[in-house]
Amino acid sequence: MSCVIGVDCGTSGTKTVLFDESGRKIAAYTVNYPMYQPANGYAEQDPSDWRKAMLTSLKAVMAESSVRKEDVKGIGIAGQMHGLVLLDKDNNILRPAIIWCDQRTAAEAAEMERIAGRERLVEITANPALTGWTAAKLLWVKNNEPEIYSRIAHILLPKDYLRFILTGEYATEVSDASGMQLLDVPGRKWSEELLSVFEIDRSWLGKVYESYEVTGGLTREMAGELGLCEGTAVVGGAGDNAAAAVGTGVVRDGKAFTTIGTSGVVFAHTSAISIDKSGRVHTCCAAVPGEWHVMGVTQGAGLSLKWFRDNFCGAEKEAAALMGTDEYILMDREAEQVPVGAGRLIYLPYLMGERTPHLDPDARGVFFGLSAIHTKRDMLRAVMEGVAYSLRDCIEVFREMNVNVSDMAACGGGGRSALWRSMLADLYNCQVKTIASEEGPALGAAILASVGTGIYSNINEACGAIVRTELTQSPDPGDAEVYERYYQLYRQIYPALKDKFSVLAGL
Ligand code: XUL
Repeated sequence: MSCVIGVDCGTSGTKTVLFDESGRKIAAYTVNYPMYQPANGYAEQDPSDWRKAMLTSLKAVMAESSVRKEDVKGIGIAGQMHGLVLLDKDNNILRPAIIWCDQRTAAEAAEMERIAGRERLVEITANPALTGWTAAKLLWVKNNEPEIYSRIAHILLPKDYLRFILTGEYATEVSDASGMQLLDVPGRKWSEELLSVFEIDRSWLGKVYESYEVTGGLTREMAGELGLCEGTAVVGGAGDNAAAAVGTGVVRDGKAFTTIGTSGVVFAHTSAISIDKSGRVHTCCAAVPGEWHVMGVTQGAGLSLKWFRDNFCGAEKEAAALMGTDEYILMDREAEQVPVGAGRLIYLPYLMGERTPHLDPDARGVFFGLSAIHTKRDMLRAVMEGVAYSLRDCIEVFREMNVNVSDMAACGGGGRSALWRSMLADLYNCQVKTIASEEGPALGAAILASVGTGIYSNINEACGAIVRTELTQSPDPGDAEVYERYYQLYRQIYPALKDKFSVLAGL
């Protein structure tokens, strides 16, 4: 039986999963590592931590299983997007990686639009200059750490640094490279124009592949260390969201997924490129060759519920520990007892500013309509509903762009909540399903490896054979009608407060 490996280099840890060719999980292993915040708004990680985590987890899945090394046909790598890894000419790491949620680059994002022209930047990269994306970070290093900048020989994304460790190749693939803002996203190649205006040396960037293509083979040294065969194929893989799309079968028009993790992402596949000129949703190359996706990001999705849990749900935490269950399950049960609309209480989940649809780092959370009658339980339900309203905002932008969604999967930690899924079904007014495998990005990367090594002939065929739906939640017409009225009011609250948020930020 042929097997494939998916590696997912996430923000909290790197997870490696060994699958057989039918997508059955044989072994999985995760190694966690820290994120460093040297200043307010900064976020960095040590690429050596990713390397150690990948090597430890690869060895662990091989040790845990009885799979022969000859049966492992390929490896796919998925990873957190937008990070900046800098290497010198001898491949030494020049500084800690600046990662996706870092927000230090407001001046550089403005500089990018000034130099390249906002419209031209959107035409080429399909997005306006974004503070968290890679190009702005590179300009930040140029402006603030010129000595380090002068020693750059290679620029890599997080997962592409891991590819370099495995294969010795400097390479990337279109889905993750889209988040660097140096790629011509419609043309799926580096933009010579942007490299020239930003004065970036072309030789610093790796070769760009499609996500399923083989980018190199395991070096002899790595093969020996990992107990795998020399030359085992390493395919392009994908950015974590594009990989999750493959792992949930979102590879055709009409298909979409919502993931509620720390942030929330609503992701829809588009066979033709579709760009929102005002940048409310991101457009990137999909892992499916010659196709694209759009993605709306809500900054404080699972984060809002975690914030509520950590500050107000000590009793639920204690009860859950005693009962040997998850506190989120108890919190769901409490929120279920409150009617739709949380007794006329609306929550805006902007604890960390917002991307879709407001692109406003100064926005902050709001409880609107709080009354003496409300209890903790009402506030809990309002938090979950507010996150669902913000995800519906992403769908509204998709609708304006004529990106139609008829098939929606829910995943991530929040996707496990039946209550949250029912809110999404009612607010999207479509069925919301769950996928049998919870391995999203790692499974997606492994599927890309199975296509790149010829086990399947294309991504659609592989997803058809591997991805299975588990549960389907249908909208409730009565609840959907009530939610709609609340959502229409929710939409009016941010515009009414927009100016006040920036005043607040300046206090
Ligand atoms: C996407 C984004 C995150 C990261 C981290 O634009 O910033 O989803 O990929 O997971």
